[in-house]
This record gives sequence, structure tokens and C-alpha cells, in this order.
Amino acid sequence: MFITFEGPEGSGKSTQIHLLAQFLRDQGQTVIITREPGGTAIGDEIRACLHNVAHTNMTSATELLLYSASRAQLVADIIRPALAAGQFVLSDRFFDSTFAYQGYGRGLDLDLLKQITYFATNGLQPDLTFLLDLPVATGLQRRQQNGDEMNRLDRESITFHQKVRAGYHELAAQHPRWCLINADQSVAAVQTALREQLTAVAPQF
Ligand code: TMP
Repeated sequence: MFITFEGPEGSGKSTQIHLLAQFLRDQGQTVIITREPGGTAIGDEIRACLHNVAHTNMTSATELLLYSASRAQLVADIIRPALAAGQFVLSDRFFDSTFAYQGYGRGLDLDLLKQITYFATNGLQPDLTFLLDLPVATGLQRRQQNGDEMNRLDRESITFHQKVRAGYHELAAQHPRWCLINADQSVAAVQTALREQLTAVAPQF
């Protein structure tokens, strides 16, 4: 089963993914955790380039293609083989981030994004996508409080991040694989909500 986690900055995806992975492992499942961009040797090099705050002149087209290149490698090297072996894959971001950030955030054409995404993933779709949603200001504040590294995208304006959040809401309304989770609550409460939703989709858990 392929589960992706999406959401704005500071939504706590990484913490929640590790807790859910533990929950699944306790039930005897083999779980792989991946993140985008990155997750492969090539992808990690692309990630460093994408997040380098010195690259203030990176065009939206370059950004789109680099995220997509990292994804193509991750799908081929890690995600498809794991799914073929019957494992769980929990991914911290996947192509929906491209639609939210490069599409709704940067304003790139959504149909173009669909074509490039299909090419990069060879049509792979998540089975379930959790949107960990919270107000933009709360998320950015959380990141600052945690002392998280501020990448090139974090430094974008509040307006940009608001467009991203609104974009996520539009995406989530378009497909039944999405499950909206209120991330503006305690770690334990968010984890409970995730497990309840997973159980609703896959009752064996
Ligand atoms: P994160 O690993 O801390 O979530 O950082 C990833 C950043 O990259 C985040 O700001 C969202 C951004 N991003 C895109 O803009 N497009 C994409 O396709 C992906 C995967 C991430």
C-alpha cells in the first residue's frame, strides 16, 4: 500500500509518518519511509540544489523539472520495488506537492504538470493521501520554534504559502484518495486521527 503525506510547512508530517510506521510494524508489516525531494543518492543531490538558498534565480521551470527528476529516480529505485514486494511505502510528499507548490503556488499550468508527473512516475498513484492541514502562520511559526532549516521555499511570502494551502484544499476535493486531517492539534491527537482513517480505508489495520 502506498500512502503519501502532504501539507504545508510545519504540519508535522515527518513525526506522524514515523509514528504510523511504528504502528504498522508492530502489526508485522514491512514499512519503507521515503521523502521528496530526495530518498536516493541522485535525489539527495537534487534536493541540496533545490533547497540551496543561494539559488534565488532558479526559474519555476527548473524547479519543476528538478522535483520531477528526483521523483522519477525515487519511484524507479525505491517505491515500485517496495510495492511489488508487498511492502508499505509511506512517503513524505509526492507529486501532489508539485501541484500545490509549482502549480497553485508558482502558477504553472496544471495540465503541463500532469503530463510531466505522468512521465516521471509512469502513472504511479498513491492509494491514500493524508493532507495534514493547518493555518500557514501556525506552520511557519512551528518551523521557526523547532529551529528547522529554512529552505528556499520556506522563504517565500505568506501569500505564496496561502496559495499552496488553498491549492491543497482544491486537490483534496477532487479525488477520494485524499483524507483531510486537522494538524493544528497535539501529536497524539493527529496520530489517532490518522490511524482511524487508515483503519476506515483498510479495516485489517
Ligand atoms: P520538506 O522536506 O521540509 O517538506 O521540504 C520540501 C520543500 O520542497 C517544501 O517547501 C515543499 C517543496 N516541494 C515543492 O515545491 N515541490 C515538490 O514537488 C516537492 C516534493 C516539494
